[in-house]
Amino acid sequence: MAVLVTGGAGYIGSHTAVALHEAGRRGVILDDLSNASRAAVDAVRGLTTPDLAFVEGDAADVGLVGEAIDRYEVDEVVHFAASKSVAESVELPLAYFRNNLGSLLGVLAAMEDRGIRRLVFSSSCTVYGEPDVVPVTEASPIGAVNPYGWTKLHGEQVLDAVAAAGGLDVMLLRYFNPIGAHPSGVIGEDPTGIPTNLAALLMQVALGRRDRLQVFGGDYGTVDGSAVRDYLHVVDLAEAHLAALDALTTRTGATAVNLGTGRGHTVLELVRLAEEVVGHPIAHEVVARRPGDAGRIWADPSLATEVLGWTAERDLRTMLEDHWRWCESHPDGFADARTDPPRAPRLGGAPGS
Ligand code: UD1
Repeated sequence: MAVLVTGGAGYIGSHTAVALHEAGRRGVILDDLSNASRAAVDAVRGLTTPDLAFVEGDAADVGLVGEAIDRYEVDEVVHFAASKSVAESVELPLAYFRNNLGSLLGVLAAMEDRGIRRLVFSSSCTVYGEPDVVPVTEASPIGAVNPYGWTKLHGEQVLDAVAAAGGLDVMLLRYFNPIGAHPSGVIGEDPTGIPTNLAALLMQVALGRRDRLQVFGGDYGTVDGSAVRDYLHVVDLAEAHLAALDALTTRTGATAVNLGTGRGHTVLELVRLAEEVVGHPIAHEVVARRPGDAGRIWADPSLATEVLGWTAERDLRTMLEDHWRWCESHPDGFADARTDPPRAPRLGGAPGS
């Protein structure tokens, strides 16, 4: 049997596809390549097996998802396929609701048609909005503050309802701040357009592609005044998805689980450590706070340990070293494949591979 990985050509999806293979599981990637490239699929194949199955198309297409499930004998799904830019979601809220909820509903309908029960859902700490109390537990108040966050929150609500009606066993994995890359340097984060997240911008300055990093806010009540986040290594995160699939063999209903290290780091701490890793200074200036940013948020990850038997293992230096290895060797990411003309959805890869 196989695990369908929707959005498997993306940042976290590609690392999860590799982790599945490393654990001896058979993965099937489904991705419409709207925010990922064919080169990412090829790189995953290079790290796993050349005949790793890849289906190009939209997870909202129930027929296509169903066909992939049948063809590759899928019995479990990890659903990543979604748009993820907060800023873009404010500009294009309808596109975000259609894409993120449409893809989830498409996957659920195809699963229901075939009696598949086990799903791991890619959620986010964004569902906590700007928390008053840290660390955040799964019982902390929920309240997203932008359209992207609402799509994750509504997605969780859909899944809670379907699970409560007895149709699904699902893990709602609430990621904190994933950074890093596979230690091979062969896959990593490949942001489209101008990135807005810290690690990508930090690396662009380190590469000389950008003059300086703006540190948003120097007046938070933290050790150095800059904001605190819970950064976790994308390979740790990928492994948590495997642990979640395993946990679903015995755990029924819907379970929300925080995925973080439980440790907070400031922006300036990241800058200093990144300077050590890349071996030269990284120009930066402290500027005004970014509107909508929480001053500090980190996870209480104890439920993940209890329910999944998972704990993040890789430290911040390893995250930055691995992220840098990827960026240094791929300064343009998977750019060459971006020029591919759009293609109609179709099935690819060898059945049963
Ligand atoms: C972002 C998303 C959130 C998502 C999360 C995990 C926003 C508002 N939130 O969170 O929904 O779940 O990623 O992927 O986009 N920073 C700078 N300078 C920069 C960029 C960032 O100082 O140029 C700071 C930010 O103020 C923040 C930290 O770096 O304190 C991390 O920022 P970022 O990587 O954008 O992630 P979040 O804002 O935590």
